[in-house]
Amino acid sequence: MHPMLSIAVKAAREAGRIINRASQDVGSISIQTKNYNDFVSEVDRSAEQAIIDVLKDAYPDHGFWGEESGHDNHEADNIWIIDPLDGTTNFLHGFPQYCISIALQQKGVLTQAVIYDPVRNDLFTATKGRGAFLNDKRIRVTNRSKLQDSLIATGFPFRDFTHLDTYLGMLKDMIKKTTGIRRPGSAALDLAYVAVGWVDGFFEINLSPWDIAAGGLIVQEAGGIVGDFEGNESWIETGNIVAANPKVFAQMLQTLNPHLTDALKTPKNA
Ligand code: IPD
Ligand code: CA
Ligand code: CA
Repeated sequence: MHPMLSIAVKAAREAGRIINRASQDVGSISIQTKNYNDFVSEVDRSAEQAIIDVLKDAYPDHGFWGEESGHDNHEADNIWIIDPLDGTTNFLHGFPQYCISIALQQKGVLTQAVIYDPVRNDLFTATKGRGAFLNDKRIRVTNRSKLQDSLIATGFPFRDFTHLDTYLGMLKDMIKKTTGIRRPGSAALDLAYVAVGWVDGFFEINLSPWDIAAGGLIVQEAGGIVGDFEGNESWIETGNIVAANPKVFAQMLQTLNPHLTDALKTPKNA
């Protein structure tokens, strides 16, 4: 394992211990509301701190971009992009689908990725150019060729409803053109599931870099394609993301295309 990846794994497992301990008594966790339907708990905060402590100890000059603590040293060549608990709503309800997501971006290129599911003890990892793994076993996206036979994961808009009607149009078509749709509630794990072939594809509007940085690299290293709704690279900036095996990816873009508003197309300057 690449040395930088193994430090990231150590950080993710540390956060996993904090999250697992707290999951035994979710009723006693203190919660704040950041925005409408956007919650942060003491668990998100302490998991993020634990991750940053491990990474900073090994790499004091690196930059950090965490969902809860924001940017630190963002001019650095090496930036760690961290979601300490992806699927907070699930976690706070005891719904066992959430994870830790950590990615390293070096001079703008994603190079290391870890997604750790502390419930199942599943560790998804990737290093750019070296493939993707689940618990040390090489993983690949499915080779299913038809969207009609595919199981697709997605996330519903639930905080910002700007694109809700557009999304519902997309969803309606996807429901008709696939074998099934799932909304598990953790975008990072949805991407990991594309990589390991438990779903054939995933799409969601308006995610944040920490939701998708690690999962995006893991999908690519598992032989999948990641793009924005027009198939271009702006997914990490716009958070508008489609990820799938190459054949299903093309059919997902075709299905989504008639619904695209200007705001959901690739930005002109991207
Ligand atoms: C959320 C989850 C969810 C997705 C949301 C994300 P959080 O992350 O990934 O699946 O639909 O858009 O914000 O807030 O639980 O870290
Ligand atoms: Ca998240
Ligand atoms: Ca989070």
